[in-house]
Amino acid sequence: MSQTSAETIYLKDYTPFGWTVEEVHLTFALHPTKTRVKSRIRFVPNPDVPPQEFFLHGENLTLISAAIDGATIPPKITPKGLTADVPVGPFVWESEVEISPETNTALEGLYMSNGMYCTQCEAEGFRKITYYPDRPDVMSTFTVRVEGSEPVLLSNGNKGDAGTGFAEWHDPWPKPAYLFALVAGDLVNHPDNFKTQSGRDVELNIWVRKGDEDKCAFGMQALKASMTWDEEVYGREYDLDIFNIVAVDDFNMGAMENKGLNIFNSSCVLASPETSTDDNFERIEAIIAHEYFHNWTGNRITCRDWFQLCLKEGLTVYRDSQFTSDLRSAPVKRISDVIDLRGRQFREDGGPLAHPVRPESFVEINNFYTATVYEKGAEVIGMLKRLVGDEDYYKALDLYFTRHDGDAATIEDWLNVFEEVTGRNLKRFKRWYSSAGTPRLTVTDKFKDGRYTLTFKQETPPTPGQPQKKPRVIPIAVGLLGPNGDEVQPTTLLEMTKRQQSFSFEGLASKPVASILRDFSAPVVLEHERSNAERAFLLAHDTDPFNKWEAGQALRRASLIASVTTGAAPDTAFLDAVVRVARDDSLDPAFRALVLQPIGQDDLAATLHAQGHTPDPQAIYDASETMAQSLAQELADSLPRLYADTTVDGPFVPDATGAGKRALNGRILYMLTRMDGGAQARAQFKTADNMTLKLAALNALLGQDTGTDEAENFFQLWKGDRLVMDKWFAAQVALAKPEKAADVAEALTAHPLFTPKNPNRFRAVFGALTMNHAGFHHSSGRGYALLADWLIKLDALNPQTTARMCTAFQTFARYDDTRRSLAKAQLTRILSTNDLSRDTTEMVTRILE
Ligand code: PHE
Ligand code: ZN
Repeated sequence: MSQTSAETIYLKDYTPFGWTVEEVHLTFALHPTKTRVKSRIRFVPNPDVPPQEFFLHGENLTLISAAIDGATIPPKITPKGLTADVPVGPFVWESEVEISPETNTALEGLYMSNGMYCTQCEAEGFRKITYYPDRPDVMSTFTVRVEGSEPVLLSNGNKGDAGTGFAEWHDPWPKPAYLFALVAGDLVNHPDNFKTQSGRDVELNIWVRKGDEDKCAFGMQALKASMTWDEEVYGREYDLDIFNIVAVDDFNMGAMENKGLNIFNSSCVLASPETSTDDNFERIEAIIAHEYFHNWTGNRITCRDWFQLCLKEGLTVYRDSQFTSDLRSAPVKRISDVIDLRGRQFREDGGPLAHPVRPESFVEINNFYTATVYEKGAEVIGMLKRLVGDEDYYKALDLYFTRHDGDAATIEDWLNVFEEVTGRNLKRFKRWYSSAGTPRLTVTDKFKDGRYTLTFKQETPPTPGQPQKKPRVIPIAVGLLGPNGDEVQPTTLLEMTKRQQSFSFEGLASKPVASILRDFSAPVVLEHERSNAERAFLLAHDTDPFNKWEAGQALRRASLIASVTTGAAPDTAFLDAVVRVARDDSLDPAFRALVLQPIGQDDLAATLHAQGHTPDPQAIYDASETMAQSLAQELADSLPRLYADTTVDGPFVPDATGAGKRALNGRILYMLTRMDGGAQARAQFKTADNMTLKLAALNALLGQDTGTDEAENFFQLWKGDRLVMDKWFAAQVALAKPEKAADVAEALTAHPLFTPKNPNRFRAVFGALTMNHAGFHHSSGRGYALLADWLIKLDALNPQTTARMCTAFQTFARYDDTRRSLAKAQLTRILSTNDLSRDTTEMVTRILE
């Protein structure tokens, strides 16, 4: 597709479809290159909509036949679908098309992965399967017959007839086409069952390739925990007789919530202690929950159009974060989420790809499955809950579920239930959905006659298409500490609605130390000038775990910025404070690990840029290394003792307690490796019986530019395991020295196990390269050129993953002239590629604007 054929779609242009679809019957005769798909669909004119031309989406389909009410017709085929003359009243549409799953490398529609058939229809993949009104507001029941020689033939809903070579499925819940799914292959299942709160029995299965059956138990346990949690917390029960999960190796995203038949990237479901890290386990648990929770927030209530994507995604991310907080540690989950939000969403919000949580236009919807829609979308719900309180939040949710069950809903519908339940006017709050950019919140304070006053100012920098910003409603959770560290004012929620606003606390004996934006109560950048002594005081005394951690971050950030801009040595106030936390056995090991975790170098570049500096990636790298070295030296005496304390006895259990200790193990071992030449890490690498400890040891060695033997040993051990090999590819690139990163990545692309056709493998190498900040942004431009070479190759195979990986370039304008022009040259080269996809064209164009 060329640039000129790309058309922009606008929210304001929404019009409903002219018909309702009452029933869909599909028959698939599977064949790698000649799959036949027959459809029989009953259309009934929608009386509320003015007559319109009958148009069905369809792409890359070979039409075999079409008929209306049994009479063959000649439809008019266009590149995007077909039009036809249809009767005034209801009618039955029938068609047969041919498609080729085996040659479908875009992994959208019906495709093949290791000999298995599977589908991916969100957002607009169903139109690559058959002619259909492929839009989320057209909902129907589906009856599906799958014909094929594969032993396992699956689709959505409940089981119907089955026999040799065929299986039928019926989904009684009306759904949009993007939730359709089909899977066929030589699969084995890990079975279980669940009794719902009203006593219905549900069959559960996780379907995998032979050889993976021993990696399903954890996912199954997570599924059952999710089902129970949604009943207990949101009163939501599962609604079919069967729930299937399938693992596939080739998948563009993490997983997909198809009704009753969730399809997962195998990296997001398969787990075992030997092959998966604690982070993998936690992520798998969260994604299983996320997809399961979509059954209500996404499937039973879906989106009217793709502009409303955050309606299901923001809410479902919010729900899965509540689930993880309940099952594991709430503070640790909150801190990790904020690290992720700053690393991905703030980055997006501050650059050329910034867009509102509910965008108003797009060219390719696949490009809007973003951190802003998902993670900021979830933050907005968190703010809403803080503002209205827990009780009203759940009342509003109950109303949402009863009122909109079976609907394709909008953000207006969502906010209305909150307005009705609380009597609040949410007009101003709604700006969080329509206005892009991260607000900067500055705070100053005053103390006089026992009265402590905080004055806040908010300002949001301009974003593409939005030069001016109105003030937003910002919930600011504040607590006050007295001079001895006692809390004199427990957490109170201040509701800021204006550009500038003051809040006072009376009757204080002395000037308090304010703990502001507790639990990160709003997704803003807090600018608070304060002394290092105050920050160290908060790190020692704050009762809010998030702000306790944040105080350490502020100290570390200030020290690093000073090092980069003035060459200052690491700040002793910071070193002393962190050493104290690291040695404090009364603190949760997971929390200590988070305090010891370095600030991302990209995050530091963003801070420098916001402060008016031109970030130098090499200088940021050097300052980070110096900081890490100083910290290791400061802690040197305690490291052996701390290391010994991270030992977890007994067999590996991927729970929060064990994971916390192992996270601290990773941090301590990394420092120890700087001091002992790698002796301890080599020993741990040899003896580790789980992937968390093994990979921590390998990373510690690679981080010191050593560990070649261990990397080779790791390869020999695991070369037969696809998911572990992804870790092997990624670790070498992620931990390479800046000047070597591009070479290491390039060498790995020549490895026999490298293939751009598998998104996980491609991301292992190139995701790692782009996250190696100083390596990717090396002044030679080698990182930029190598990525561009491969994005051009990948685009011809898989536009969706290519476009997503282009976001590595979104910050290019932050850097110096040399880097800027090197990056720009590569972006221009990508854009000038013949037949570049619509996905990549849109992305690169926006980045260059
Ligand atoms: N809807 C999926 C989720 O959030 C993500 C997804 C989008 C997967 C598009 C595939 C394609 O769980
Ligand atoms: Zn989702």
